[in-house]
Amino acid sequence: MCGIVGFVGKEEAAPILLDGLERMEYRGYDSAGIAVRSEQEGLQVKKAKGRLHVLRELTRDGAELSGTLGIGHTRWATHGEPNDVNAHPHISENGRIALVHNGIIENYMEIKEHLIKQGVTFASDTDSEVVAQLLEFHYHECGNMLEAVGRVLRRIEGSYAFGIICADYPNALIAARKDSPLILGYGENGNFLASDVTAVIKHTRDVVYMDDGEIAVLTADSIDVFDDELIPVDKKHHTVDWDVSAAEKGGYPHFMLKEIMEQPEAVRKTVSPRIRDGRVVLDDVALTADYVKEISRIYIIACGSSYHVGMVSKYNWERLLRRPVEVCLASEFRYSAPLVDEHTLVVVISQSGETLDTMAAMREAKRLGGRTLAIVNVVGSSIARESDDVLYTWAGPEIAVATTKAYSTQLVLMDLVGLYLADVLGTVESAEYSAIVEELAVLPEKLEKVLAHVEDIQYFASRYFNHDSIFFIGRNLDCAMGMEGSLKLKEISYIHSEAYASGELKHGTISLIEHGTLVVALGTYRALLDKSISNVVEVKARGAEVLAVTTDEFRGKMEKTADAVIAVPESHPVVQPSLGVVPLQLFAYYVALQRGCDIDKPRNLAKSVTVE
Ligand code: F6R
Repeated sequence: MCGIVGFVGKEEAAPILLDGLERMEYRGYDSAGIAVRSEQEGLQVKKAKGRLHVLRELTRDGAELSGTLGIGHTRWATHGEPNDVNAHPHISENGRIALVHNGIIENYMEIKEHLIKQGVTFASDTDSEVVAQLLEFHYHECGNMLEAVGRVLRRIEGSYAFGIICADYPNALIAARKDSPLILGYGENGNFLASDVTAVIKHTRDVVYMDDGEIAVLTADSIDVFDDELIPVDKKHHTVDWDVSAAEKGGYPHFMLKEIMEQPEAVRKTVSPRIRDGRVVLDDVALTADYVKEISRIYIIACGSSYHVGMVSKYNWERLLRRPVEVCLASEFRYSAPLVDEHTLVVVISQSGETLDTMAAMREAKRLGGRTLAIVNVVGSSIARESDDVLYTWAGPEIAVATTKAYSTQLVLMDLVGLYLADVLGTVESAEYSAIVEELAVLPEKLEKVLAHVEDIQYFASRYFNHDSIFFIGRNLDCAMGMEGSLKLKEISYIHSEAYASGELKHGTISLIEHGTLVVALGTYRALLDKSISNVVEVKARGAEVLAVTTDEFRGKMEKTADAVIAVPESHPVVQPSLGVVPLQLFAYYVALQRGCDIDKPRNLAKSVTVE
């Protein structure tokens, strides 16, 4: 949610800030703004409601603002409607301090009331402006900006990543973080701060991840990081192992389509280093065999699509591990008195590694004594750093708000971890173990086969795009997969959609099926195929139009019942959802395209949800 960027160096800041914001626009896109400082013009601020191109036009691609020091922000509104005034940067009353903020200041009302009593006038409805005003207040008191920032941080509660400039410090940019991501980048012609590596990757791959409570002072030639007592801290440098092309569309009309097409490669990168001589090898985790044997309960915690990965994994892991696996929505977990002790393995799944609910649930699990294992895509993200163990999905940067390649890599990584644990526990037969490993190894080629039939799905999308309510039904793993298909469709096409366990439909929801209702029936789980077909017959009898997704082997059987059929290659049941989900992603994509939706930036959403 919200993206912040800052630059101080030897080049004009405004174009660099706009470019950085454009690359982070997926984090929020209801308004944007930049503040730049120069010797001649002082502090110049431009803000605009709407997408970044509005700000680009307003500033003539940055040419309207001069100076080599600046900060920028792209917003996903929490406090105050999206408009020019509530857009960041926020300026203190005397116009000398500018600030951008990602996060939420929980005690802003109390501080605001206090400042109003001191005679401060506020321009916006935001919690962030309160921090700019409070900074001015403390700066006035102590006359030292770093000290003022320290005082402010001790006063505020909540989550934040800040970028701050002050007219009195013409060569310095100040950064601070708590519970919101912030990286610092070392460039040749200057230094950067940003919410996300994508904003700076064009200029540098040499980055430092800020930790909670830290404050940084950046100049053109130096970056100094301090702890919350303002004592200098030595930070480890990281080299980002992907380049700018990974964060560009590369000829595709949308990031989402590019990322769907990248799935074979992303899965290959995630799986192949972890299979050696037919065995799953997880070098990077410190789970000992003794600990694994003592595991009595497993929680999988996540949100949205990552939660849907958990739903698939529950079926797979219970089959492989013979241990109870509970999947929890992160936003519910910590308020549900979870049964966690030292024999509980808590797996948290998060593409961004910054989702606040997931992070909070993970902290609660740790507090209760559980051992945490994070499945994360963004290297160095908060969840990755705080978890006891972390395994990365090597999907590369995911820009489209609707996840696809991260989901797919999470699925296969969960299969690998499941196999690994089952092997230690001795709960999986060696023939089954080998069959799954083999299927994971050949999955990229099978995914390529699915993607080669993109026109079929395009055709079905053009046939069905004008439906206003669509059901996804399936049993067992197909039911879990349907949840993802339904979410994908609703988030980018705005069509109302529900996922249902086929067998449950007749217990109420079947009343919604009427003549012409589209039902996407998932029948890839061979053990329950006949039962799934019976459920297709039931909805057909009530007038539904049925689009079925099955495997090549069962295409003929499905064609006898459904109106249209998409078939994917056969795999081991544990791996099959990795193939079945791809037509659902493509269907959602092409339906949204037909409906003229803003696919990469769907309304009301943002990638990386860092508010509760
Ligand atoms: C849907 C989607 C979201 C995320 C959810 C969790 O396409 O992307 O539902 O899956 O917000 O995000 P992460 O995985 O970053 O924790």
